Amino acid sequence: MENEDKVKVEICCGTACYLLGAMRLMDLTENLPKDLVGLVEFEAKACLGKCERDEIGCAPYVRFNGTEWMGNATPERVVERIRELAGRREEI
Ligand code: FES
Repeated sequence: MENEDKVKVEICCGTACYLLGAMRLMDLTENLPKDLVGLVEFEAKACLGKCERDEIGCAPYVRFNGTEWMGNATPERVVERIRELAGRREEI
């Protein structure tokens, strides 16, 4: 799969996001469900600026494909969204 076809997932690792769980999200880079391996490009970012504009309580933030935001991101929600964006159904 070409890089531009991959789901791009930027994980904010700024202070607010770090304190509110970004490291759990970073674990996904090593422990992605098998069916999604190779379909995702992860990037750890410095503060993406959301915590200054929005409720700080909504950290950690993730950005998908450069435009779509997720606040209160959890590994489960991020995986679910990656599946949707990659056009994958959940494996049962
Ligand atoms: S620390 Fe994550 S948006 Fe600022």
